Amino acid sequence: QVFKLEDYKPSEFLIPETKLTFNLHPTKTLVQAELTIRTRSGQPPNAALVLDGDELVLRSLAINGKVLDAASYTATPDRLTINELPQADTFTLSIETEVAPEHNKALSGLYRSSGNYTTQCEAEGFRRITYFLDRPDVLSVYTVRLEADSKEAPLLLSNGNLVERGPVESGALDSGRHFAVWHDPFPKPSYLFALVGGDLGSIKDSFTTASGREVELGIYVEHGKEERAAYAMAALKRSMRWDEEVFGREYDLDVFNIVAVSDFNMGAMENKGLNIFNDKYVLADEATASDADYAGIEAVIAHEYFHNWTGNRITCRDWFQLCLKEGLTVFRDHEFSADQRSRAVKRIAEVRGLRAQQFPEDQGPLAHPVRPRRYREINNFYTSTVYEKGSEVVRMIRTILGAEDFRRGMDLYFERHDGDAATIEDFLRVFEEVSGRDLSQFALWYHQAGTPSVQVAMRHDADKREVTLHLEQALAPTPSESRKRLMHIPLQFGLVGQDGRDIAVKAAGEGVEGDVIHLRKRHQTIRFTDVPERPVLSINRGFSAPIMLAMEQTAEDRMFLARHDSDLFARWQALTTLYTQALTQAYRTIRGGSTPEFAPALLALVGDTARNEALEPAYRALALSLPGEGDIAREIGQTIDPDAILAARNALVLAIAAANADDFAKIYEAMAASGPFSPDAADAGRRSLRNVLLDYLSAPAGDVKRAASRYESATNMTDRAAALAVLAHRQSGSPETVAALADFESRFRPEPLVIDKWFQIQATVPGTATVNTVRELMRHSGFSIDNPNRVRSLVGTFAAANQTAFHAADGSGYKLFADAVLEVERRNPQVAARIATAFRSWRSLEPGRQDKARQALVAISQHRDLSSDLRDIVERTLA
Ligand code: ARG
Ligand code: ZN
Repeated sequence: QVFKLEDYKPSEFLIPETKLTFNLHPTKTLVQAELTIRTRSGQPPNAALVLDGDELVLRSLAINGKVLDAASYTATPDRLTINELPQADTFTLSIETEVAPEHNKALSGLYRSSGNYTTQCEAEGFRRITYFLDRPDVLSVYTVRLEADSKEAPLLLSNGNLVERGPVESGALDSGRHFAVWHDPFPKPSYLFALVGGDLGSIKDSFTTASGREVELGIYVEHGKEERAAYAMAALKRSMRWDEEVFGREYDLDVFNIVAVSDFNMGAMENKGLNIFNDKYVLADEATASDADYAGIEAVIAHEYFHNWTGNRITCRDWFQLCLKEGLTVFRDHEFSADQRSRAVKRIAEVRGLRAQQFPEDQGPLAHPVRPRRYREINNFYTSTVYEKGSEVVRMIRTILGAEDFRRGMDLYFERHDGDAATIEDFLRVFEEVSGRDLSQFALWYHQAGTPSVQVAMRHDADKREVTLHLEQALAPTPSESRKRLMHIPLQFGLVGQDGRDIAVKAAGEGVEGDVIHLRKRHQTIRFTDVPERPVLSINRGFSAPIMLAMEQTAEDRMFLARHDSDLFARWQALTTLYTQALTQAYRTIRGGSTPEFAPALLALVGDTARNEALEPAYRALALSLPGEGDIAREIGQTIDPDAILAARNALVLAIAAANADDFAKIYEAMAASGPFSPDAADAGRRSLRNVLLDYLSAPAGDVKRAASRYESATNMTDRAAALAVLAHRQSGSPETVAALADFESRFRPEPLVIDKWFQIQATVPGTATVNTVRELMRHSGFSIDNPNRVRSLVGTFAAANQTAFHAADGSGYKLFADAVLEVERRNPQVAARIATAFRSWRSLEPGRQDKARQALVAISQHRDLSSDLRDIVERTLA
């Protein structure tokens, strides 16, 4: 079945009130739903009531307290149709269903994780709990009564505020069961419903909102791990304050709870007042979490908290509008992290991620608009296009409007749409209204898939003292649209003078506003007058638009920008472009059977950047990080040979290391830690620079000592895991590497989240031998095909991040992966479909690999009883 945006119709029936009673039991949980149903028209119903279900077992059904006779309804596992309804605009529908949380391995709906009851309802999991109008535009006030065994589940949580709790009386006897009643006063869609029942430890804190509301904060984790939740709690409080200060948004309930579970399909979930998290995004201490983990926790805690306004108070009309809450909330969490850490470093990391994930999606068979118009399986649209590109689109709105009008637009959005299930049109309208601008061309960013490319050339005429910019935009066809319209692309820019400073520019004609060029036509020419000396063009500063930029620019000019551009993002970009050019050139040389060489000026520039103490260490670390194999592949485009890419990249690593060995060794020593561990951005930056240097210093064959000693002396997970990765990736098979891998495993055996790192590091060892390693690790006692984190770390990482092994020329990587995907699929279709997207760039490979990849995809597609999730991905990938 294909769902289409244009088919949207408001529901004939509303559910203003929902009362739920759960009798929690591992294999036989009874769910009683008492729904107040009201017709939208205010007239008696003139059609049947059709409710969504998914694998449901109906136990009983009544309307206004009267049991329905069998002739008046039909119930299947995925639908309840009631044909005979009262002749009234309002009535009460009572439904009893039975579910088995213990057997729910799809981790959607009500399931058990480490013995605890938990739920995941977005997007369509609520219908696996009871029959309902399971769509985001049906908002209801929920009252939830939970009953459970007091020993098995002393903790009973749901959305909103706790109303009542106590033992369940059964005559004079102690029933051994207890109950809790929760009430959430805010009407919400079913996807935001949540409950938790179990035995967990907790940490508590409180927060006073700007207007003086006392909020009780709780984070619930596995017993014994309470201390590891402290960083998440601090991040939560910082998020709450930041949203007040930057967006004027206050929290609105008396409690805010977060529960960490170890079996979770995604990162986390913003259920009203009861966020449920993958424990990977809650638990951290220096011994078990890396700096990247800390940053991830901060970002995800903030993201889910920010959803309280962008997602919960204002939700989505339908799932086509998913980016309305996700793109906007990612933008908000990006801004939060930028404010908490280094803005430039954060921006570079975002763009690296966007290019590594979203660009290949947007340029391959799975491309779709930020706001899709059709889907077969909505779970397959929780993509980096909807999230990350969706965030970039919001960022562009701010660039076009300026910070002030953007904030006024957001204020209007909150004021006008509080309590609504809104659309992208509603969102764009507030910005048009406050700014008086026409955003209709800009709106194409939501409607057209694909990464636009922009070509730029600059000419300087010394006699006329004029600079002319020629810009041209293009957008290739994608599966969603074969013909594209011209986009409105905001490009932040500067003309950099010989002294390294931006020159003040005077533009003749339209298209420039302050430091932003508005590219709206296919070709656009812009003249700047009164420029006596030839400047160097810096464009798409801050990555103001998510495009591919092709600029006619000499290596000398790029080196100049890499040293002097006042925009730190653009400075990093100039260096990265130089790397990319050197790497693609080396790739061709290697394919031609020769040995690549690299420009000494580039190698020197890298050394100068590493030594430049005016730049913070975290920034220098990013500047020293070469484009990944996937980035290089995208640059080459067609008939990719992953082995040659790896060889080219390694050659450049070695050349940089050889040219700068002494300096790198000195900086490596200078970056050594002093004082106690802190996860803050400054210390994390020093560690990251040090670890990047360790990788260079350990690149020459046999240079294993430094990394081995780093591994042994490490006092935190960042350094330990980095040293292990360097050993495994640079000195694979050495006795030191073998010993370190064994040590890591025995040290962290009881820590699944740490063992995930061990899986990841081994799954990304370059070369075809890793196919066997992964096959063996799938039999390791720490691996579990049922656990999404384990599957992603080992199988997912192998396919998504190991170009030379996954794309092994003999097809063995594809075969292993396809088998694993099918095995995961039988239990958890969502996770299987997600990791299967690793095939998306198969058409850009050289013919031999292409053929093998196609065979693997066809083998999956021919499997019997394929889930709609996996079928959707595989068929679109093959199309
Ligand atoms: N709304 C969640 C977030 O962005 C993601 C939940 C998606 N879950 C799913 N099964 N598709 O934080
Ligand atoms: Zn989200």
